[in-house]
Amino acid sequence: MNVIVVYASRYGSTKGIAEFIAEKLRAHGVQAEARSVEAGPNPGEYDAVVIGSAVYMEHWMKGAVEFVRQNRAVLAGRPVWLFSSGPLKLEPGTSPGDPGLEPREIGEFREVIHPRDHRVFFGALDPRRLGFAHRALRKLPAGRALLPEGDFRNWDYIEAWSGDIVRALKTP
Ligand SMILES: Cc1cc2nc3c(=O)[nH]c(=O)nc-3n(C[C@H](O)[C@H](O)[C@H](O)COP(=O)(O)O)c2cc1C
Repeated sequence: MNVIVVYASRYGSTKGIAEFIAEKLRAHGVQAEARSVEAGPNPGEYDAVVIGSAVYMEHWMKGAVEFVRQNRAVLAGRPVWLFSSGPLKLEPGTSPGDPGLEPREIGEFREVIHPRDHRVFFGALDPRRLGFAHRALRKLPAGRALLPEGDFRNWDYIEAWSGDIVRALKTP
C-alpha cells in the first residue's frame, strides 16, 4: 500500500499538516509521502491519495483544484481523502463540520471523484509572512476579526483522522 499526500500551501501550514499525516501513516506501517501539487505528482503511481489545500476567500488554491480536475479519472478509481486547512476562528454557534465552511469546490469534487471523506482543519496565520495583498486585506476591520494571528492546527484531531485512513486502507 503506497499513499501520496498531495498539498497546496501558500505559507506552509497546510504543508505541515500534509507532512504530519504522511508521518502518521508511516508510523502505522503504510508507505506514504507528502508532495506539493507544484511538483506535479502522478496519482496513478499510488494506491490511495490524500489531497489537502489551504483555503483563501472560500476557495481551494488553484493548483490543488487543477490537480483534482486534471486527474479526475485516476482519482475516481482510487480511495481518496480530502482536507481543507481553513478557518482560524469560528463564529459563535458554528463548528468545523458546518457545510458553510466548506470551500466552494468540494461539492464538485464529491460528485466527480467520490472522496471517502472531506475534513476541515483549523489553520495557522503568521502576519509577518503574509504577502502584500493578504496583509492589506487583514488591515480591514473585518479581515482582522476573521484572520487572527496564531497556530490553531489541532494535531490530535488530525492524528485521529490519519488513523481513520489507516483503518480504511487495512480493511479489505
Ligand atoms: C487573506 C486570507 C484569506 C483567507 N480566507 C479564508 C477563507 O475564506 N476561509 C477559511 O477557512 N480560511 C481562510 N484563511 C485562512 C487560511 O486558510 C489559513 O491561514 C491557512 O492555514 C493557510 O494555509 P497555508 O499556510 O498553507 O497557506 C484566509 C487567510 C488569509 C491570510
